[in-house]
Amino acid sequence: MLMGDKTMTDLKRLYQRASRYYDILDWPFEFFRYRLVRPKLWRNLHGTLLDLGAGTGRNVACYPDKSFVYTVDLSPAMLKKAQERIRENGRDAKCVEADASRLPLPDRSVDACVSTFLFCVLPDDRQPAVLREVRRVLKPEGRLRLLEYVYSKNPWRRFWMRMLSPLVEFLYGARFDRQTKNHLVASGFRIDREEFVAKDVLLFIEASPLY
Ligand SMILES: C[S@@+](CC[C@H](N)C(=O)[O-])C[C@H]1O[C@@H](n2cnc3c(N)ncnc32)[C@H](O)[C@@H]1O
Repeated sequence: MLMGDKTMTDLKRLYQRASRYYDILDWPFEFFRYRLVRPKLWRNLHGTLLDLGAGTGRNVACYPDKSFVYTVDLSPAMLKKAQERIRENGRDAKCVEADASRLPLPDRSVDACVSTFLFCVLPDDRQPAVLREVRRVLKPEGRLRLLEYVYSKNPWRRFWMRMLSPLVEFLYGARFDRQTKNHLVASGFRIDREEFVAKDVLLFIEASPLY
């Protein structure tokens, strides 16, 4: 059962709905897996940072001290929850409702962009526009860090991922077969580092803009 790729309007509608169950459904994954990995995404970052596709603000507790973060998402309902987390954690961050392919930020103004589980949601045909926009707002020495799901090479795990994929796509619009690494290279990024951080399904990617 393939549902086909969604438009940005579809995704916004989906996440307005998902904001009601996102944190509850994700709780076991957050507790046993993501919570342990998220700090790695934010380690050694300083200055003006971007949390792209920030959702309910699961990264907020990891925002580094002495930094300012733009917490960006398409869905106001998801952002409302992120705003609560920013307040609770006392972080210096500003919630911005925007499409990742049209960021209301100046050129070369951001030191690093972190994005967790956005690119497995973004349709492949939208990814180049988003990556070009990230490249535009990043400083030349800026960094992009992603955390994304990919299909396992283990046949048994892959089989289960295939079984679950229609449900994951229905609930989150997410897929495990996005071609993000190809889009990164085609959009003018150099992949500096790739590392599986949970089994061979959760991939950490660090990239930098090529000039
Ligand atoms: C799977 S959630 C990930 C949320 C969060 N980063 C996390 O780690 O839990 C994906 C988020 O990306 C947002 N999103 C989807 N398409 C977007 C777009 N084009 N621009 C900005 N945000 C987008 C959704 O609204 C949703 O909150």
